[in-house]
Amino acid sequence: MAHTILLDLPTDGHAGVAVITLNRPDKLNALNAELLRELHAAITTCQYDPNVRVVVITGSGPKAFAAGADIAELHANDAVGGKLFAERGQAVFTAIERLGKPVIAAVNGFALGGGCELAMACHMRFAADSARFGQPEINLGIIPGYGGTQRLPRLVGLAKAYELILAGDMIDAAEALRIGLVNRVYAAADLLDQTLAFAQMLAAKAPLALYACLEAAQASADVSGLEGLYIEASIFGRTCGSEDFKEGTRAFLDKRTPSFHGR
Ligand code: COA
Repeated sequence: MAHTILLDLPTDGHAGVAVITLNRPDKLNALNAELLRELHAAITTCQYDPNVRVVVITGSGPKAFAAGADIAELHANDAVGGKLFAERGQAVFTAIERLGKPVIAAVNGFALGGGCELAMACHMRFAADSARFGQPEINLGIIPGYGGTQRLPRLVGLAKAYELILAGDMIDAAEALRIGLVNRVYAAADLLDQTLAFAQMLAAKAPLALYACLEAAQASADVSGLEGLYIEASIFGRTCGSEDFKEGTRAFLDKRTPSFHGR
């Protein structure tokens, strides 16, 4: 993997957990085209690797998760280029959302613009107490273009989303927790260890059931309530056909810990 992204695949120490680190600390991990390409490649590697059960995404350096799209690159756009610019980022973030394995953002500092949108494309967000969140695009004369206008309202409701997108102000981790933008807040020094511990706990769950949970819950954002229930029942049925379902229920009845194999 080239240098704007670091990919640590699972080791004995972190069984089942891959860590992707955004690695442009001198530019606060701003998302340029090269980084987005490498992030997409890292996500694809995680998707294909059966040893990867859970993915953690974090930023390098003490200051930032990601301070947004690279404004130097962004500046060069016109109307046509801007649409492509947005679509390229959206494609990477949708790949994260649809990976089929849980992805947790460990937000270690600024998560602004595209950085906040990247965190929102992850299934959960754990933040350092020093983290700051915001959608400051309004201050650049544009709107969020990597999914922020769609994912932020779903996470925090329309009123708070309007406030963040229209005013462009930053909020701290405590406020992000209060409005439901993040799941958990830890002291900065503990963030990665705590996130990895949670990720490893998830990695021991039945992989097909994890995939099924993500797929069914994601449908709630895309389809009507009735259609969603139909999708849930279908996916529920699919999980009942797995060996892991037989193992999980048998282990409960036998009063032992289940051993899941993703079949
Ligand atoms: N794109 C490109 N470069 C960025 C960047 C971005 N989104 N965010 C930060 N950088 C660069 C700075 O230009 C600076 O580079 P330099 O040292 O070569 O001059 C470096 O990262 C450090 O940033 P700096 O602004 O000096 O740090 P700070 O601590 O004073 O301020 C922020 C931190 C996050 C408040 C500030 O960098 C900022 O507002 N960034 C832009 C946030 C934004 O609007 N994001 C949405 C983009 S669509």
